[in-house]
Amino acid sequence: MTHPSSIDTVAAESSEEPSAPAWWQTGVIYQIYPRSFRDTTGNGVGDLQGIVDRLDYLNGDGAEPLGIDAIWISPFFPSPMADFGYDVADYCDIDPLFGDLAALDRLVAEAHARDIRVIVDYVPNHTSDQHPWFGESRRGRTSSKRDWYIWRQPGPDGGPPNNWGSAFGGQAWTLDTTTDQYYLHQFLAAQPELNWRNPEVEQAMFDVIRFWLDRGVDGLRMDVIGMISKDENLPNNPTNLDAPPDLPEADIFGRQVHRFNEDQDDVHYILKRMRRVFDGYDDRCAIGELGYSLERWVRYYGTDGDELHLPFNFRLMEQTWHASAIRGSVEALEAALPPGAWPNYVLGNHDAPRIASRIGAAQARIAAMLLLTLRGTPTLFQGDELGLENGVIPPGRHQDPQVLRLGSARSRDPARTPMQWNACPHAGFSTTEPWLPISSDYRSRNVANQLEDPSSMLSLYQHLLRYRRSTRALTVGGYETVPNGHDDCFAFRRSHPAGEILIALNFTGEKRRLSILDDRQASIALSTHLDRVGSVELNDFMLRPHEGTIVEVGP
Ligand code: NOJ
Repeated sequence: MTHPSSIDTVAAESSEEPSAPAWWQTGVIYQIYPRSFRDTTGNGVGDLQGIVDRLDYLNGDGAEPLGIDAIWISPFFPSPMADFGYDVADYCDIDPLFGDLAALDRLVAEAHARDIRVIVDYVPNHTSDQHPWFGESRRGRTSSKRDWYIWRQPGPDGGPPNNWGSAFGGQAWTLDTTTDQYYLHQFLAAQPELNWRNPEVEQAMFDVIRFWLDRGVDGLRMDVIGMISKDENLPNNPTNLDAPPDLPEADIFGRQVHRFNEDQDDVHYILKRMRRVFDGYDDRCAIGELGYSLERWVRYYGTDGDELHLPFNFRLMEQTWHASAIRGSVEALEAALPPGAWPNYVLGNHDAPRIASRIGAAQARIAAMLLLTLRGTPTLFQGDELGLENGVIPPGRHQDPQVLRLGSARSRDPARTPMQWNACPHAGFSTTEPWLPISSDYRSRNVANQLEDPSSMLSLYQHLLRYRRSTRALTVGGYETVPNGHDDCFAFRRSHPAGEILIALNFTGEKRRLSILDDRQASIALSTHLDRVGSVELNDFMLRPHEGTIVEVGP
């Protein structure tokens, strides 16, 4: 099934006043990994002031801004940085490495002045072991916060209480020798998991949401949101018979079916209550990080849209890069969405290999056009607009804690190397050697160079973003697959009363002559090669190797 109707035609057909779509529906989200965006203090690690200094690059009145609408900033809270900020020691403050609350307030004000919304990371599943809540909890079995975390007696053999593994390798339990009980952590031992079955935990964590929304941020991205509830009895997980045979020995997590440790039905009760916190404000947005099958994933929108506004959709990152696979994934998503649910697509993030390395530089341009023309909210990762490739991390310089137990093949560091601003030493990111090495191509591949080059990846992103913003069919129009005569090309229509757009993407390195049954006038508005405009015949339409086009059709 497809959604041929745009938001506006649905409203017109039902004779309702068309309500203006929300910013998180029409806007484009840009993820900033603050450690690697820009360092203004000369310590090799990026900071909040570095983001403020580059807001004009992202949007605003300056010359040639990228043209995004919202930034999601990965964690900047006080943290021992065992998992680079996803181990939070205080949810309501800023780590001095990044600045302070005044710097954050400045960032929000400066972003808003440029029409950029600010989305903050929220890590509800676990704290740092240095969080005062955990300090109190581990003090003794009768501590007032003992039940804020998940403590259990050892199993019958004195070992862990069940067979669960940690996503970073090894067991999900660590024995605390002071009290002779185990605590649960599905990531590092330094990331103990909160017990959301305790109403005091829920209250405290809802207060954290209020703290940030009161401060004026526009939304929260919620880390591993599907994990906050586990089966109450913590049963053993079954073995995953389909797990790849070559997983590292320590990857217990990878060899299990995650039946009891996440995505439990009762997580939805928590999310409905959480959503009511957001609904107490004006147009704020709740985004959740979660995987799961399509059928389980759609449930996170809630019944009648009363849970997440956007459960992140990672399918473009996970799907084999072939036109028919991508088309199938888009169609399945469109068909699965409950009424009123708004789609979204993520192309890259700080946990996954760079898209340009995964599919190659030429196809990365197709991916950019796809991301910015599909129906739904796009999220792109800093540096993907330059076509950054995976960084090469020399032995001894890996930082990702996963590497310790699961090996360097699992390292997320290659996607986290610093932004490449210019050809100066350290790529204009810092005045000193950064926490992760700058990629060796920074002298040629950087923002300054690409701004000067009308055919660069950055120029393509600017054109796509500008075109998208001014085209109702792309921001709020309906979606429909269009047959084109080739299995390795993907064409779709975005329709709106204000105009109809056809997107045609060649996923191959050879030219393709498309045959689209449509004899209306058609003219190319944008090609990924940035060198052609003008009228075309859709029933005999040539795409060059690795070319994608946006075509205006009709009337
Ligand atoms: C998902 C985050 O994106 C990742 O970076 C982090 O390590 C885990 N959650 C644990 O918080």
